Amino acid sequence: MKTKITKLFGVRYPIVLSGMSWISTPELVAAVANAGGLGILATGILKPEETREYIRRTRKLTKLPFGANVTLYFPGAEQNAKIIIEEKVPVVNYALGKGDWICTAVHAYGGTVIATVTTMKHSLAAQRDGADALIVTGHEAAGHGGEVTSLVLVPIIVDGVKIPVIAAGGFADGRGLAAALALGADGISMGTRFMNSVESPIHASQKMKSSEIDAYDTVYTDKVDGLHARVMKSRGAARLIRKRMNPIKAAFLSRRIANIVGLPWLKVAVGILLMGPKKAMQMARMASGFFAFRAGTIHGDNDAGVLPIGQITGIIHDTPTVKQIIERIVKEAKEAQKVIASKL
Ligand SMILES: Cc1cc2nc3c(=O)[nH]c(=O)nc-3n(C[C@H](O)[C@H](O)[C@H](O)COP(=O)(O)O)c2cc1C
Repeated sequence: MKTKITKLFGVRYPIVLSGMSWISTPELVAAVANAGGLGILATGILKPEETREYIRRTRKLTKLPFGANVTLYFPGAEQNAKIIIEEKVPVVNYALGKGDWICTAVHAYGGTVIATVTTMKHSLAAQRDGADALIVTGHEAAGHGGEVTSLVLVPIIVDGVKIPVIAAGGFADGRGLAAALALGADGISMGTRFMNSVESPIHASQKMKSSEIDAYDTVYTDKVDGLHARVMKSRGAARLIRKRMNPIKAAFLSRRIANIVGLPWLKVAVGILLMGPKKAMQMARMASGFFAFRAGTIHGDNDAGVLPIGQITGIIHDTPTVKQIIERIVKEAKEAQKVIASKL
């Protein structure tokens, strides 16, 4: 398969593994790279020294190109971005922040940059800042998808920018890949599908759950980690949706953020309080959301924890290897092409 993104990243198939915290580990990233796709390493929950170690571990597991992501909104992300740049990771993916300095630094060593966006405004800003491609995430997606569904959002952004678009949110099979290409995208990025694969480190019970539940079993809320995100309906999600926050709790919860990113607590607490009450509360939710996500993904706990999952879980009923997923998608997309040609 040849699209603008297979050429840009030097990969065989226009299929990307989204950077999912706790899930997109060196093992999963390398499995995707070795099967012909682009794996993106998640660094959101890593301290800088762990980021470096994860990058080096990925390099031991694959000789093929891979990416690493940073969510700029989160404390500690800049330090991780600097490590990713120092390590000259071939593809850098940033989200939720201004990435002009990342583009300049990555281009200087010959790497490429993908910005993850959910709106036209942010797509144009990323293009101006020098991003080489966009991951455009629709409402169906697990985690932080936008307000608008992929079917509508992808063609709007394709028409409005000059750089290639990778469609995310609601893709899990070859029909989806064919549909994304028909909408003008140059590839797809998948989270929920790869999360339920043999190589995914998610708890086994959640793989089973993901195979069983349907498209109606998710909820889109800003009460779990402070930003609108889609998660599985569960007791844990309902508890966080009910939970009240205030700036004092925010300062207290910032200790957890400080622990995660390896920064002094006081520095993080003062930084959060200076952001103003609204942002401070968002950060507090992010801190409690983090622990809930960890319990949901790694421990398979749906009472204390929360599992990010996309609506596309409704068509996922098995747990194949990454290689099987990618080969199946490629085969199905070619079959879909024939079906479409015969109908047109
Ligand atoms: C378990 C899980 C964890 C995720 N963690 C993150 C994350 O840390 N940062 C992020 O930007 N997106 C995260 N996502 C969202 C994905 O990066 C991606 O945008 C989404 O899964 C795409 O939609 P899909 O699930 O329909 O394929 C996560 C998704 C899942 C399923």
